[in-house]
Amino acid sequence: MRLAPQPSAQPLRLIVLLLLTAGVITSPVLSTGCPDRCVCDDQLVVQCAGQHLTTFPVNLPLATRQLIISNNRIVELPPLALNYLSDLVYLDCSNNSLTEISESTFGNLRKLAYLDLSFNTLVRIEDRTFGPLASLVMLRMTDNPGLSEIHQDAFAENANLQVLDVSRNNLTVVNITSLIALPALRSVGLSGNPWSCECDNEDLCLWVHLEGFKFQDEGQTVCGSPADMQGRRLGEVGIQLRTLCHQTLGSWDYLFFVVIGFVIFAAGTVSAWLMGVIMVLYERYIKKKDEQLDADDEEESSETGRTSRARSDHGNGNLKTSHTV
Ligand SMILES: *[C@@H]1O[C@H](CO)[C@@H](O)[C@H](O)[C@H]1NC(C)=O
Ligand SMILES: *[C@@H]1O[C@H](CO)[C@@H](O)[C@H](O)[C@H]1NC(C)=O
Ligand SMILES: *[C@@H]1O[C@H](CO)[C@@H](O)[C@H](O)[C@H]1NC(C)=O
Repeated sequence: MRLAPQPSAQPLRLIVLLLLTAGVITSPVLSTGCPDRCVCDDQLVVQCAGQHLTTFPVNLPLATRQLIISNNRIVELPPLALNYLSDLVYLDCSNNSLTEISESTFGNLRKLAYLDLSFNTLVRIEDRTFGPLASLVMLRMTDNPGLSEIHQDAFAENANLQVLDVSRNNLTVVNITSLIALPALRSVGLSGNPWSCECDNEDLCLWVHLEGFKFQDEGQTVCGSPADMQGRRLGEVGIQLRTLCHQTLGSWDYLFFVVIGFVIFAAGTVSAWLMGVIMVLYERYIKKKDEQLDADDEEESSETGRTSRARSDHGNGNLKTSHTV
């Protein structure tokens, strides 16, 4: 059976679209005004930074191209309100209290080129979170102290992505399969994460080793574990990990070789000794047999002499007897 791609995505998008069209009629979004505590200019830039906002601003001009809501305490990006802004090119949400974003969050922002999610409290990034952002060029997602998981295909569809910064999060491993396939990617920030320098992260370390020029602050891109690797640069341990992780011999194999070597050595010694003993015994046996044969020969020859004499005596006797009869 062939699975349709993202079976849950289609109905979701449909619902979002329906709500969008329904909303357009009644929503204040269409207004030409400007949200409270924000500054809007005729370049379609809406500036709401540092206004102690706890919720996403309402009453945003529909044609907004740049939205700056940094340095507030916004806890959520509501998909409906955000996806009205289909002309949005630049979105700065840094330094807020965002804990969650999903595929629907950015469902309609096809022109968005710049996205900043730094200094929030994100924990994980799911598959396809950035999937709809077909024009995304720069993604900053630094300083989310609890962010420890990025889905392997989170950026798989962002073919225009050039700059990705995930510095100073809580990442230990990333699967780089879809990252290295991004054709435009030229700058990656990974520093300040407690990277694992074990075999599960070998590919990332090797990537940093081979393409160090792509990585911002490569000198600060260091291992957080295991203990004996802590503080070493990923680029430096890349090759070491490659040899280490593809070594087919473990310590048990070495023990096996030692034991086998000893067994072969012992077997050789024992068999040589046995051969020696057998040789000696055989020689002795041959000697004894020879001696015995010689003795037998002598005995036999003396005996045959006697018997022949006896025989001849006998014969003579016979003759004698015949004579006597
Ligand atoms: C984050 O925003 C607060 C105001 O909400 C500000 O005081 C603080 O300096 C900002 N932090 C950063 C790293 O920009
Ligand atoms: C970072 O992740 C580790 C587990 O990998 C966890 O124990 C730790 O609490 C996390 N740190 C933060 C600040 O969430
Ligand atoms: C990494 O991700 C790719 C898909 O992007 C997947 O095929 C592969 O199995 C993953 N590797 C690991 C070690 O999980």
